[in-house]
Amino acid sequence: MPQTLFINARLATLSGDSGYALIDDAALLVGDDKIEWLGSTEEARSIAGAERVDCTGRLITPGLIDCHTHLVYGGDRADEFELRLEGASYQEIAQQGGGILSTVHATRAATEAELLVQAIPRIEQLLAEGVTTIEIKSGYGLDRDNEIKMLRVAQRLGKIYPLRVQKTFLGAHALPPEFEGRADDYIKEVCESMLPAAQAQGLVDAVDIFIESIGFSVAQAERVFAVATGLGLPLKAHVEQLSDQGGAVMAAGRSALSVDHIEYLQANDVAHLAANNTVAVLLPGAFYVLRETQLPPIEALRRHQIPMAIATDANPGSSPVNSLLLILNMACTLFRLTPAEALRGVTINAAKALGLDKQTGSLEVGKQADLVVWDIDRPSQLAYQIGINSCAGVMQAGNWRKPLATGAAT
Ligand code: NIG
Ligand code: FE
Repeated sequence: MPQTLFINARLATLSGDSGYALIDDAALLVGDDKIEWLGSTEEARSIAGAERVDCTGRLITPGLIDCHTHLVYGGDRADEFELRLEGASYQEIAQQGGGILSTVHATRAATEAELLVQAIPRIEQLLAEGVTTIEIKSGYGLDRDNEIKMLRVAQRLGKIYPLRVQKTFLGAHALPPEFEGRADDYIKEVCESMLPAAQAQGLVDAVDIFIESIGFSVAQAERVFAVATGLGLPLKAHVEQLSDQGGAVMAAGRSALSVDHIEYLQANDVAHLAANNTVAVLLPGAFYVLRETQLPPIEALRRHQIPMAIATDANPGSSPVNSLLLILNMACTLFRLTPAEALRGVTINAAKALGLDKQTGSLEVGKQADLVVWDIDRPSQLAYQIGINSCAGVMQAGNWRKPLATGAAT
């Protein structure tokens, strides 16, 4: 494969500890699937033999990373959207057997092929916005075969599309109806049957759990985490979304890659994340859709220099959002992140939340060549605009997924 040399670009490399790390009049050389060299357009004159792509001043960022999604599921929950508008809360709907369980019924009823077909428009929307890595969770099967079915769909999406898919096992997402009143027995099933079976099929990159009054307790999560750790799998957790259960402190104490949601995390507890390099994954889509008013402890996260990631949380209930660009805007507007923090949240910090920051998430020599060419010159425009997709070209692992339409010349 010939090398590709991008010239006359504005690079938002997202390297270093803060900001965009912008380089003007820049050039970037891709060989095979990696970034081989970065420098100025002037210095690049001496490089021979590469296919030159003149970016005419356009912005290049790392490929975007959606580090928290429930993208594979059956059916929809538009009816619950209406119920919530009439005053029902997310918790009330869940307690009455709706919520996650209504998606469990639809997901169990769907074949693998049907789930795949339903996931396609969602994933294609994310791909069109320059997403090159996505995490997809199970959690609507809630038995061994249905959880495996969901993870197989996630795996297939990664084979069908030029995209890295990270598969997260979320068997402990809700209590399935057949275990009603027997949560500890279900956790035993998760630990002894479901998780080991999914892992044995190579379908698990990380293990997640929903710690909440309508989910599972910290003690139950500890049992799942002990098994996951024994299998060598990294940990993640949905915590402090609706109430403070102490889940984030426990998960960080076990070196979880990330704690996600965290609206109800106490500022005093944020230091626990710093001690363990745990990423705070903020999900403004769920905050918006559930009309939450409790903000995550952003100032404390900044003070303790906790990496903040943001993600769509794409799911049929709390966040039917399939646009990572919209999430950039929501993170700034609702959570008051700066546009640079928001962009770090879908690039380098999202890579950290998946344990992939050595491979992707920034434009640095040696990393996988995952990048997006945008028809803009200032990175803040990505978060500022709503409903405009300025993605002009996408390269994933050194291959053009969407070739740059203009300005390409050899
Ligand atoms: O991240 N909080 C739990 N899980 C999902 C919602 C799943 C659903 O409502 O279907 C979330 O918000
Ligand atoms: Fe989620």
